[in-house]
Amino acid sequence: MSRHIGEERHTGLWGTTPPIPAPTPAERTTTPAPPPEYATPEPVTTAPEQARTAPEQARTAPEYATVTPEFDAVATTPAPPEFDAVVTTPAKPVSDTPARATPRPAPRRPERRAPTPAEQSTSDEPTERDFLIPAEGLTAQQRKHALTKLETYLVGKHEHMVGFQGNQDLGHAQQDLGRFLDFHLNNVGDPFQQGNYKPNTKAVERAVLDRYAELWRAEWPYDGKNPESYWGYVLTMGSTEGNLYALASARDYLSGRKLIGDPGGSNPQMVYVQAAPPARSAPAARVGGSPAADPRNAYRPVAFYSEDTHYSVIKAVRTLAIDTFGAIGTAEYPDQCPLGGRWPLEVPSKGGPDGSGEIDVDKLERLVAFFAERGHPILLLLNFGTTFKGAYDNIEKVATRLVPLFRRHGLLEREIEFEPGRTDRRRGFWVHVDGALGAGIMPFLRHAAEEDEHSELAVALRRELKGKVPEFDFGLRVDGVDVVGSLVMSGHKWAGAPFPCGIFMTKNKFRVEPAATPAYTGSPDTTFAGSRNGLSPLVLWNHLASRSVRGHAAEAVAALRRTRYLESALRELEDRLDREDRLPEGGLHVDRSPMALTVRFRRPNDEIIAKWSLSCQPMPTGTGEVRHFAHVFAMPSLTEEKIDLFMEDLFAEGAFTHPDIPLPEPTTSATAFAADVQPLALVPMTGRGFQ
Ligand SMILES: Cc1ncc(COP(=O)(O)O)c(C=O)c1O
Repeated sequence: MSRHIGEERHTGLWGTTPPIPAPTPAERTTTPAPPPEYATPEPVTTAPEQARTAPEQARTAPEYATVTPEFDAVATTPAPPEFDAVVTTPAKPVSDTPARATPRPAPRRPERRAPTPAEQSTSDEPTERDFLIPAEGLTAQQRKHALTKLETYLVGKHEHMVGFQGNQDLGHAQQDLGRFLDFHLNNVGDPFQQGNYKPNTKAVERAVLDRYAELWRAEWPYDGKNPESYWGYVLTMGSTEGNLYALASARDYLSGRKLIGDPGGSNPQMVYVQAAPPARSAPAARVGGSPAADPRNAYRPVAFYSEDTHYSVIKAVRTLAIDTFGAIGTAEYPDQCPLGGRWPLEVPSKGGPDGSGEIDVDKLERLVAFFAERGHPILLLLNFGTTFKGAYDNIEKVATRLVPLFRRHGLLEREIEFEPGRTDRRRGFWVHVDGALGAGIMPFLRHAAEEDEHSELAVALRRELKGKVPEFDFGLRVDGVDVVGSLVMSGHKWAGAPFPCGIFMTKNKFRVEPAATPAYTGSPDTTFAGSRNGLSPLVLWNHLASRSVRGHAAEAVAALRRTRYLESALRELEDRLDREDRLPEGGLHVDRSPMALTVRFRRPNDEIIAKWSLSCQPMPTGTGEVRHFAHVFAMPSLTEEKIDLFMEDLFAEGAFTHPDIPLPEPTTSATAFAADVQPLALVPMTGRGFQ
């Protein structure tokens, strides 16, 4: 649904001003005319004047005490470093300060005043100049003018945003939920504790969590006393926060940590403790290892994730100081990589960097086996919809291979001893599913697949999806083991939230603090964020509640159909260009991973990238050549008409000509050290949907 900027608005900043008329298409690409009553503020000292006066002021420090209008003007222009240093060095008496420094020219900064109409940026894209905040603030008219410029720009960009996995169809968010902008909604603390900050939306949050728990086949409604019940919360960031929380939870669980009631305390407080490492002589079965296992590894989890994994996971692994298999392998088992050669820092994807983007299960199994044999708990992150290729790791196949392996190495259940007689039984593995996009759409595709096979929806789905709907959630059981430990989804991807948010979910039995012990409810600091966005649950609730499950399922099937339309359109474009002898050498590299909601193709020129907000990624091929790709996601906001318009842009003369695209270079200091240091994790500079 398009945004209508002429719609009636809630009173607020504009007071009773009439609605802003919707711009005509011609107006959308130009700067709106300034309102006639626009007031030009008094001119103040210009930047060059300030540049001259600042060092002068520095030399005569005692005068700082005298606040003159000129000094005010100088002070608001941040000073060059020398100037700062003179002012803030307290040790020396001011009179001793030698007036010797050769002043560096002051950085050129815009004046702190509202731009006059003539000074407004003329480009379509607003700049910070349009939003400068003068000391005296801006009038309502000036704010309105600046915000209209932004809105005009956003309307154009909204219409053409096709390159990222964010659904631009925000449903009726503004119409239904705009009224809640008049409240500070804060869901601080645990969703299942009402807390004392009463203007919250926790009731809505719990309803949303219950619904996703049902869609993801966890036990619901939430029940703190039931170890099998789900627990989760609505994230204030997106899946980045969820991945961080998941990996922190997994690390604590696998490394034998626990929150316990303070044994000696009289206050209701808790202590975060670490289980003692099992004795070297401990029987293997007790510590969960195979005979070859080293008990010292029992609480040293090792992380595994594929080379197509989102960079938020790498950030989380680094933030939480979790060991990766590549780091331990390189440091402690050089020359023993079961894949041969040097240890990779990430699990290879099937077919390498130019493959489908799905994790290579054979290689994963060999790598995991190596560490399981040595007694390490296994922390596995799987992708359900990768960022660039939209690929799904085959979670069921991974589980089918790894569950017997975990059983063999005593990782299905182990005893964690905190002190004699106080033990926990935990598993020695954790599977986290990053379903940033996939966890939002897949439950609905499953619903379509479960309909009567002759139903219109089931037939439509079979046209798009040959095999079965892939497994990814808490309902997946292999040999009686419920494999998935945690799951994350972004709310602004499939669900179309107008700002980043998401959901993290796990089960009570995997949490390191005692669930449902009312004595502890005074410290329900169970979420990463303290203050949490109370609008996010509303937006997710509106998304879920605005149609039937069948309606959601139809939307999900339609997205797959549009992806196929997009792929065909790109292949047809390739043919058209070829017929006209205008096809770039090597073709358009059109590719779609199985079931993905995205199609990738040769990167077009910068103008097209900017117009359609395309995400781009260089990818090495098997031959070492680097190919530059862009991709389009068939979110519900991408219509066939938009795809047709996009194809026309791609068919235009010069659409695929661009200067050589430089690849970012690692910093020289990093390169200089690279031979001597211990690698911990790969930090990619390109790919993974960075750009
Ligand atoms: C697979 C995957 N995981 C995690 C993220 C990070 O999500 P967010 O941007 O919502 O923090 C993304 C974002 O694109 C993603 O594609």
